[in-house]
This record gives sequence, C-alpha cells and structure tokens, in this order.
Amino acid sequence: MRPHIPHLDTESMDWKTPVPGVYSKVLSVDPENGARTALQRLMPDEGYTAPSVAHYHHSAEEILVVKGRLSFDSKTYLGANGYCFHPPQTVHGFKSDVPMETWFLSRHSKKMCTHEVPEPAKTEYYALNGVLPARGWAALPDATDGGWRDGVKALGEDPQTGEGSKLMRLDGATPDLDVQDGFYQEFFVLDGALETVDGDGFGVGAYAFCPPGTARPRFAEARQALIYVNYGPK
Ligand SMILES: [Fe+2]
Repeated sequence: MRPHIPHLDTESMDWKTPVPGVYSKVLSVDPENGARTALQRLMPDEGYTAPSVAHYHHSAEEILVVKGRLSFDSKTYLGANGYCFHPPQTVHGFKSDVPMETWFLSRHSKKMCTHEVPEPAKTEYYALNGVLPARGWAALPDATDGGWRDGVKALGEDPQTGEGSKLMRLDGATPDLDVQDGFYQEFFVLDGALETVDGDGFGVGAYAFCPPGTARPRFAEARQALIYVNYGPK
C-alpha cells in the first residue's frame, strides 16, 4: 500500500526531467508493487516526440489531461479533462500524437513497464490474450462532458474489486468524497478549492492519498471544486 499523504501541494514541487521535453512529478508510490501516480508534462518544443510504435503495459494505465492535448491513435484527442483507461495487457498507442505542451495525471496500478508491439494484430485497442478485462478501456475527449449524476461523473470501476475512478463537482458546505470505509482514497484537485474543518486549503493541484483506516481530510467547504478521485480496497 502507498504511504499516507495527507496533503501534497504539487504546484510547489520541482519537476524532474528524465529526458529532454519530458517532465515529471511523482506524487505517490506503492513500495510493494511500484504502483504510482505522477504528474507529467510533455514539451514538443523541447524535443519530446510521441512514440510511433504501439505498446502495452502489465499495469492498468489511467490518464487525466490537466491541460494541452494528446492522442493515442491520432483520431481521438483528449483535451483538458480528457480521460483514458488502458487495462493491463491491452495494446494501444497505434499513432500517438502530442501537438502542444500537455500536462496529465498518470496512474499505473503496478510498476510501469512498456512493451512495444511493432506489428500489432489490430489497429485499435485489443487484448493480448483476446479477453478484455472486466473494467474496459475508455477514451473521453472531455470527461466533464455529460453523464453527471448528483455531482458525480463515473469514469470506470472494476466490478470484481470495486476499484474505480470518478470526477466530482463539489460546491458548498461539508462536501464529501463519498468513498466507502475500508477503501483507500486518492484525489487531485483540478479546479476550484476546498477547505478542511481545520482551515487547511486544498487548491488547484492539491493531492492526497489516504490508505484504508487512515484519517481523511474532513472538508468544511468547497468552492466550485472539480476533483479526480480514485478509490479501491487496497
Ligand atoms: Fe500506455
């Protein structure tokens, strides 16, 4: 399980630059299986080029675009608040494109490894073993567009484990992320702000990871907040 991170101000963190044009801030890592969430920034102007060969991972890959624009097939482009989910061992990235500076939240369900597929069997998402997982792939150009119910936009959930992701719009008194007891809770503030009962402010870029059983922030107020929430049993 990842450690308890009550409140991380990601805007005050320094970017790491592993290769020219690629910037990264690692927000949390599971020391046991290498699962991690990171904020990534790609800069084509500084030499970043999107991979031209399809690939898959053994981890589930989840991406939420903070700003900019990217595509894994040069057909569906994810803009601000765009979202995609690539289940483990599903081939994607047939013709990736990042035409401008792009920031995104990147989540991998275990240590990330990328395996190239120079000659993919198909030209759109497919599972290596032919069986699509229970939580299927998703690609939403703007995940805030439609599908809201009571301030919640479900992004996807594994019917077997209960692990999933959602966007929430919160505004007003005593906002609640509504994650069930016994689950971990992870969130990232995309817009607006929240304040806890202790007066701690969570603004744009604030992040937290609360393992099962640890204290979660108790919010007193939300001001037009848009939040990405991930949750699960372990
Ligand atoms: Fe990928």
